[in-house]
Amino acid sequence: MIIVTGGAGFIGSNFVHNWLGHETEPVLVADKFTYAANAENLAHFAEDPRLRIERIDVSDRVAVEQLFAHNQPSSVVHFAAESHVDRSIRGPAEFVKTNIIGTFTLLEAARTFWSELGGEARDRFRFVHVSTDEVFGSLGPDDPPFTERSAYEPNSPYAASKASSDHLVRAFHQTYGLPCVTTNCTNNFGPYQFPEKLIPLVILNATAGLRLPVYGDGMQVRDWVYVADHCDAVRVILARGRVGETYNIGSRSELTNVQVVHAICRLLDDLRPASGRMHEELIEFVADRLGHDRRYAIDPAKLESELSWRPQHSFDAALHKTVKWYLANEGWCERVRSGEYRRWMELHYGTGQPEVLGAVT
Ligand code: NAD
Ligand code: DAU
Repeated sequence: MIIVTGGAGFIGSNFVHNWLGHETEPVLVADKFTYAANAENLAHFAEDPRLRIERIDVSDRVAVEQLFAHNQPSSVVHFAAESHVDRSIRGPAEFVKTNIIGTFTLLEAARTFWSELGGEARDRFRFVHVSTDEVFGSLGPDDPPFTERSAYEPNSPYAASKASSDHLVRAFHQTYGLPCVTTNCTNNFGPYQFPEKLIPLVILNATAGLRLPVYGDGMQVRDWVYVADHCDAVRVILARGRVGETYNIGSRSELTNVQVVHAICRLLDDLRPASGRMHEELIEFVADRLGHDRRYAIDPAKLESELSWRPQHSFDAALHKTVKWYLANEGWCERVRSGEYRRWMELHYGTGQPEVLGAVT
């Protein structure tokens, strides 16, 4: 089977859906089940013998070594991370632990495991490291998009921790020959995204009649990709990406935050009209994020030309689909908002208290 770390989070769980929809090889999700994980994202496969889930912290050396020894994976796709920039500003330590030490721990275990493999298993093994465009820093308005050759200039503790992990992955390939491939993707959106991130936060707040907080002047630019397109790209890169390479993933959809928030408001005015007001009346400009990067943009030409990947969704069509998904899945949204989603862990593991979400207020 393949091991998918962080497979109960937003992109990881979408990747499991994507993988099991296209491939026959089973999946082992290895996830610490932090606040960002939601087992309900994988409930569709509850009876499917192709999916197993293990609760594991990727920075726990013994547990990670056992994970490899007991399961003999054909490859690893590494999504597990602390992923929210605002949380990294409030408390960077966990980002250093999971994103840097965790990736290092996985690499060490993968190296030991891979070095003892022979024949086809050794040739096939891949360590796909899922990273972000934020490692490249911030672009000026007229700068060309980031390519694989752009310099690393991370600005937030989150971005710095991901940059460090990318360097470790590179070093493990260069030094030990571990067959690694790294991906650097733009902002994702779609089903199962935790509502601390802009798009689900705005959808859930707007439907609840709560304010829509826009940081600073709202003119920061993000380059958006639908999560299913990202997952397709990772699957293609796992199958055919060149070892030791990095691939940028994006769908050339640059928008300011204000444009994104207005687009969601317009969709909601149409799909779920609020009596007596337009959703955009809820927009409130609030204090800016510290060190807020002004613009990200990715040039995906290498992935397109080498591996023939193309995004299948336009931003507008994917946003429409996403808003409809959140409206159709009120139960999921309600359990996330209330903290009820954490009960699954208590029921199964008898630990942890439901956390109150800070983001959706
Ligand atoms: P997420 O926060 O939704 O999910 C992260 C998952 O990792 C959760 O299930 C969490 O429980 C798990 N995890 C955290 N610490 C762990 C640990 N120590 N051990 C094991 N599991 C742990 O994140 P996401 O948005 O799905 O992002 C997934 C990956 O993709 C991350 O590496 C992130 O840097 C990268 N990425 C995200 C985006 C985006 O827009 N969301 C864009 C580019 C790259
Ligand atoms: O670029 C890829 C990155 O995209 C990933 O590596 C990160 O894991 C992911 O969280 C995301 O980072 P951002 O910081 O860009 O995403 P976020 O949704 O937090 O914010 C998007 C933009 O919206 C950003 O400019 C900050 C702004 N924002 C965000 C929130 C939560 C607001 O204006 N108001 C908000 O309430």
